[in-house]
Amino acid sequence: MAKNPYVGDRFTRKAKEEGYAARSVYKLEEIAGRYGLLRPGERVLDLGCAPGSWTQFASRRVGGSGLVVGIDLSGVTVPLPPHARVLRGDAFDLEPESLAEAAEGRAPPFDGVMSDMAPRTTGVRSADQAASAGLAERALEVARRVLAPGGWFVVKVFEGPDVRALREEVRRSFVSVATARPEATRQRSIEVFIVGTGFRGGEPPE
Ligand SMILES: C[S@@+](CC[C@H](N)C(=O)[O-])C[C@H]1O[C@@H](n2cnc3c(N)ncnc32)[C@H](O)[C@@H]1O
Repeated sequence: MAKNPYVGDRFTRKAKEEGYAARSVYKLEEIAGRYGLLRPGERVLDLGCAPGSWTQFASRRVGGSGLVVGIDLSGVTVPLPPHARVLRGDAFDLEPESLAEAAEGRAPPFDGVMSDMAPRTTGVRSADQAASAGLAERALEVARRVLAPGGWFVVKVFEGPDVRALREEVRRSFVSVATARPEATRQRSIEVFIVGTGFRGGEPPE
């Protein structure tokens, strides 16, 4: 019988033990630790938040004086504290007004925007890469509209021909830009995370 590659995965086991909805939480934990993100009191927007592990982790890190607003096409069923709010919807339709409503006027602006959005993969690598790049570009567009100056941005994208241009776009809006491939990323995965810190504010000049 073929061996299931997920059985025995230490991050999957750890997530279960620690009550997180998904093992992807450990990618965020590593990125947040390395770049000093998710500090107490921060207001964070979590794009593509289902099943909820990033929202769980972020809300623990920012604490009750902070705020996490998540959005996803799918619902989130894990229990979350009152300072975490989840909207069901499409990031392409997201308006700052609906975020303000979910945040009861405490945001925008946000201190951080993170996107773990992923397309439904087709197995056709070029199509999946293009879809992932489209989601990442949308995340950057949202970040430019809702981040406070000095804010941070984390976005997942599948490595491919569009990633260099995306990284350059992030560089236009953030003082520092880095690419991370956390330890919890599965070996066969083509995903990377682009991390921007020190948001310059507003739309970049043409
Ligand atoms: C890898 S999962 C996110 C996992 C999540 N960070 C966690 O830790 O639980 C990717 C998510 O992106 C969401 N997604 C994909 N396209 C989206 C879109 N256009 N708007 C909102 N969410 C989207 C999917 O529904 C899926 O739940």
